[in-house]
Amino acid sequence: MYRQGMTDTPLISTIRYVASMRPAFLLSEIANYLDEPLPVSRMYAALQPHLIHLSLSATKVGEDYEISRVIPAKPLTLNTSEESRIAAFFDESTLPPALESAIEQYITKKVGKTWDDPVILARLRRAIVAQKDDYWRPTHKRALQYSKGYHILGYLAYHFPVYCIQTEHLLAQLARDGLFREKMTVLDIGTGPGVVPLAIADFYSRLDTATVTVHSIERSEEHCEAFTFLAGHVPPVRSRVTILPPIKADITALAPDQLPERIDLAVFSNVTNELMGLPVAARAEIVMKIAERLAPDGTILIVEPAEEVTSTGLRVLSLALKKRGLSIYAPCTFIHTTNCTPDRCWSFVTAKPIRPTPIMNALAACDEPFRYVNTDIKYSYAIFRKDGKTRETYRVPSGTRGFRLSGIHLHIGRRVTLTASKMSEELGDAQTHLFRLCDGSAEKPVYAVLPAFHITTENQLILSAPYGTVLRLEHALVRYNKAHDAYNVLVNRETRVIGIK
Ligand SMILES: C[S@@+](CC[C@H](N)C(=O)[O-])C[C@H]1O[C@@H](n2cnc3c(N)ncnc32)[C@H](O)[C@@H]1O
Repeated sequence: MYRQGMTDTPLISTIRYVASMRPAFLLSEIANYLDEPLPVSRMYAALQPHLIHLSLSATKVGEDYEISRVIPAKPLTLNTSEESRIAAFFDESTLPPALESAIEQYITKKVGKTWDDPVILARLRRAIVAQKDDYWRPTHKRALQYSKGYHILGYLAYHFPVYCIQTEHLLAQLARDGLFREKMTVLDIGTGPGVVPLAIADFYSRLDTATVTVHSIERSEEHCEAFTFLAGHVPPVRSRVTILPPIKADITALAPDQLPERIDLAVFSNVTNELMGLPVAARAEIVMKIAERLAPDGTILIVEPAEEVTSTGLRVLSLALKKRGLSIYAPCTFIHTTNCTPDRCWSFVTAKPIRPTPIMNALAACDEPFRYVNTDIKYSYAIFRKDGKTRETYRVPSGTRGFRLSGIHLHIGRRVTLTASKMSEELGDAQTHLFRLCDGSAEKPVYAVLPAFHITTENQLILSAPYGTVLRLEHALVRYNKAHDAYNVLVNRETRVIGIK
């Protein structure tokens, strides 16, 4: 489990003691208890990194600080009307009209003509094509010039709608998993034009009483400008959502005072792949720096596009973060409590496609409409905690000599019983169903293969179990797939598939 890695000094143990006796006090009062009194500014500098784990907060009062106990807000439980409003939104899967209109107004303002002027649409198409070409380049060869005006307008027209609704799916999942509180502080890192903060504002419009304050970091001036415009043009969610102006900073060189003191949810959405030029240890360091400000029961969400390189890069980063003490809450389950081999781990989820926006429809009125309509939601995600919590809790009891996927090569041509998580949605087709399996030990990819004519009531759970579910496959046949250097586990009429909790 994550440890702050600091030992108590006389100052910290004194503050710990005083805080256990009094709910609030001035930091200057602590000087009286110390053998060697320190000025308030030095005491604050020494205390600040410990505040989270002491469950204290510090509020500046003149030259002094009031130190008080943090009373965590109640966990958020979605009620039935909130659930049904959220379900209705996903049924529609339409970009909220206020956001669509704000994007149209922003494009019009920036280009000095209406957004649907044919000249502007032609420029937007060029920007979108250039952005997509860039996307398929290796990360170190990408231009990623967010400073070029049309690049950002293209992002708003093409990527924003999908990423916004995708974020809402993730927020709904976190809330349903009980990882939200009634009052939250969120930090969005690499916010771009404010996709995550604006999605949060929209998501909270379907909640009754929960409140949120959203901080964000972005280094591109133009993205900050777009964010500020959009945030100013969407209706405030009564007074329950506070979106603070983005902090203009480089996340590879953040100063601690640029971060909120205590974060309940930190989000990296489509950002860590832009840091691929850095070694994985340096990327992990950036996340760990944010983790220092994470509440003990806080959550870090990292999302990347489902594309193979970015998706696999996320898994490599996830393992590095696990080794540094964060637990992977989801989607991975380390059934044997081993570390995995993530290099070929390509695992992603999908959600219902969004409806094309009016801008997409206008862009599509050309010879190659498919190039400008972006409606598919497909993403890889990882959720981290400091408290060791995991979504799936099943672990093979230690000392049990069960089959592990790391030993699958020894069982080719044999029938085995194995326990693993279903780590993909359907990768096959109606004739041959195919799902990725993982128990945290496999060195090469492993897939469950179920030919349609072998589906029985005993094995059909593999089809319906949600992504991430732990399953036991009894009497499944192991095969090696030379073409893909992977293993297939054939599920047939003789195989039983059971859900494991
Ligand atoms: C693909 S955009 C993602 C925007 C938004 N989070 C989303 O999901 O749509 C990546 C953003 O990360 C920002 N970014 C990349 N590297 C950064 C860094 N070192 N410091 C701050 N921001 C960075 C870029 O400027 C860009 O706005």
